[in-house]
Amino acid sequence: MNQDYIKADPWSIIEEGFDKERVKSSESLFSIGNGAMGQRANFEETYTGETFQGSYIAGVYYPDKTRVGWWKNGYPEYFAKVLNAPNWIGIDISIDGEPLDLNTCREVKDFARQLNMKEGWYQRSFVATMPNGIEVSVVSTRFLSLHLDELGAIKYEVQVLNREAEITAFAYLDSGIKNMDSNWDDQFWNTTRVHSEGNRAFIESHTLKTNFATCTFMEATLYRDGNAYETEPVHKKDELAVGMSFVVEAKKGEKIALQKYGGYTVSRNHNSSELRNAANSTLDKASEIGFDGLFEQQKKDWASIWEMSDIEIEGDIKAQQGIRFNIFQLNQTYLGKDSRLNIGPKGFTGEKYGGSTYWDTEAYCLPFYMATKNQEVAWSLLEYRYNHLEKAIENAEKLGFKDGAALYPMVTMNGEECHNEWEITFEEIHRNGAIAFAIYNYHRYTNDYSYVPKMGLEVLIGIARFWQQRFNYSEDKQSYVMLGVTGPNEYENNINNNWYTNYLAKWCIEYTSEQLGKVEKEYPEDYARIISKTQLTVAETNAWDKLASNIYFPFSEKYDVYLQQDGFLDKEMIRVKDLAKSERPINQKWSWDRILRSPYIKQADVLQGFYFFEDHFSQGQLEKHFDFYEPFTVHESSLSPCVHSIQAAKLGRMEQAYTFYLRTSRLDLDDYNKEVEEGLHITSMAGTWMSIVEGFGGMRVKDNQLSFEPQIPEQWQSYAFKVNFRGQIITIKVEKGTSSFSVTGDTDLDVLVNGKTVTLTPGKVVQA
Ligand code: BGC
Repeated sequence: MNQDYIKADPWSIIEEGFDKERVKSSESLFSIGNGAMGQRANFEETYTGETFQGSYIAGVYYPDKTRVGWWKNGYPEYFAKVLNAPNWIGIDISIDGEPLDLNTCREVKDFARQLNMKEGWYQRSFVATMPNGIEVSVVSTRFLSLHLDELGAIKYEVQVLNREAEITAFAYLDSGIKNMDSNWDDQFWNTTRVHSEGNRAFIESHTLKTNFATCTFMEATLYRDGNAYETEPVHKKDELAVGMSFVVEAKKGEKIALQKYGGYTVSRNHNSSELRNAANSTLDKASEIGFDGLFEQQKKDWASIWEMSDIEIEGDIKAQQGIRFNIFQLNQTYLGKDSRLNIGPKGFTGEKYGGSTYWDTEAYCLPFYMATKNQEVAWSLLEYRYNHLEKAIENAEKLGFKDGAALYPMVTMNGEECHNEWEITFEEIHRNGAIAFAIYNYHRYTNDYSYVPKMGLEVLIGIARFWQQRFNYSEDKQSYVMLGVTGPNEYENNINNNWYTNYLAKWCIEYTSEQLGKVEKEYPEDYARIISKTQLTVAETNAWDKLASNIYFPFSEKYDVYLQQDGFLDKEMIRVKDLAKSERPINQKWSWDRILRSPYIKQADVLQGFYFFEDHFSQGQLEKHFDFYEPFTVHESSLSPCVHSIQAAKLGRMEQAYTFYLRTSRLDLDDYNKEVEEGLHITSMAGTWMSIVEGFGGMRVKDNQLSFEPQIPEQWQSYAFKVNFRGQIITIKVEKGTSSFSVTGDTDLDVLVNGKTVTLTPGKVVQA
């Protein structure tokens, strides 16, 4: 049974009732972020029960020394981890000398959490009876400001309900924190200064090795009857923590509110010596605007995000909540303001995957950001890889490749490879192809070619060179083969001729050759610069052409399908539906060798190729391959259901498409994989968006035009989404039997609807 305690609501994530078993899961689900930092929904006050504390700053990482059982040459020295940063949310409450701790309270009533996705804030409330008989009501509201993105704000309201009492509120900062996933239990932070003055406090610390200097800061103000309470707080500090206590003799039922601002200034964005000044200036700005002003601004800023990216579903509240949760979390993780940043698979909600960049960004996230933001955001994601090109070339050199061949890392923070499982680090090389595909995809969608001559062509050349060196000629097959790889399906390792990787590599080489021709003709200066920089020769490009025209692809005549790899049909072909439920998920139930020998597929592999290169295959071929591979697919990667949902929709199998959709959109809310406490699956959330827009909406770019083939799941009355296409916002509403379209801007736009041209005129709604 999946988790089902989250209340259905179109705009909020709601939990009611206190259950200690759920604390860690809810800490993930109610996470907040603003692109520059993020945090799990930890309690402000002491909690001695099971919890996973986490607050993270974008781009601040630590190179944790690699730990493996058996060292292999070529392994990276370290795994760059997004760091658990000093805690600034802490507010310890004690009443008549007794600490408030929900783990030890006699009773907790009316416990509720709400994550308001429309307005971007989180609230927790409860009434608790403490061991000393005090009945206390707490309402705590907090948000991470989009407007001042180094700042978070908390309003923590306390009321003693059954008598007069002395309330002590201790607001503090604490840098004595660790990463749960530290390899060697190293200290990651060095704290150099702990300081408080007036109602502000600061901790200056830097990460070891990477030396990111950080100032964690706070300001606390106590309110009685809605007015600031003029009192001198008592300051307290030790080597790693600092804070201040406010003591109030509260009347029965009197509302005391502690308002706390906090956050980080970091040397990534400021001069190291200026961090405390920068913190003070952020706090000054916050004080000037005030909590209520910041809160209003937060609502406005989220409204403008939703204005571009909302998907409205009528007739299915859980589906509605699911898609908004996905869109909300993607925006909390990455807003595209900084091309040094990227989208970690867990965002700011946990530590697994190190918070680093995977191929997920190019293969899954880019379409979402292209269609729901301005073009510069997608450009930033592409630029990120250009900035890492030198490192990708070094990475390939470490593995024995030469002459400018580039292998982008499987996992990275700064361009260097971090992953250290040989079958992935050395063999899951298809990631290189997704990066090239993203360049094509960006041009196809935006019609902006400028990235290619400026940056992209160099990336493509590095990637094409890698592929050329990675294939070898097989005398036996009289064609080029690629040996020892892992495809997207990580349940097969060290296989030969993974169809997806071979196909992608061939496409990359051909695409690169084409772009070379185009840049030479249309951007001669860039061409000359690139050729001189890369020293690309005609002999080399001739060798590419020869290779690309003679690559081996495993194929079964019997089933008329491409085979995932050489020898796939030697397996015992028992379908997933014939496996006992108790055997699944196989990654938890089976030994690794058993998984590798089985036909079971973790996520789309051949079908990932059919997704990227849909136009290269007929509908009949898609159907054949889908029917051949899906029955062996266990979907044990969060990236799997969305691709299958899109393809099922393309095949007109809406019921199946819908089942996959539900699985992707509520993966975390319903905790399908029983691991939500570790954090959310951020990158696959973009896949959920694709399932609606590309799957049900059938949106594609065809012949330089936007094209739709709308369908609607039976369970829904209607759905509507918006996309930014080349600067014009198009709204599509799909109902049973009809769809309507409108467009913003000053010019008409022709789109294709079910293959027919429809002209959209700004200000008019067109039914089609
Ligand atoms: C998937 C990869 C993915 C990674 C991070 C793995 O489970 O198999 O394809 O890149 O998770 O999301």
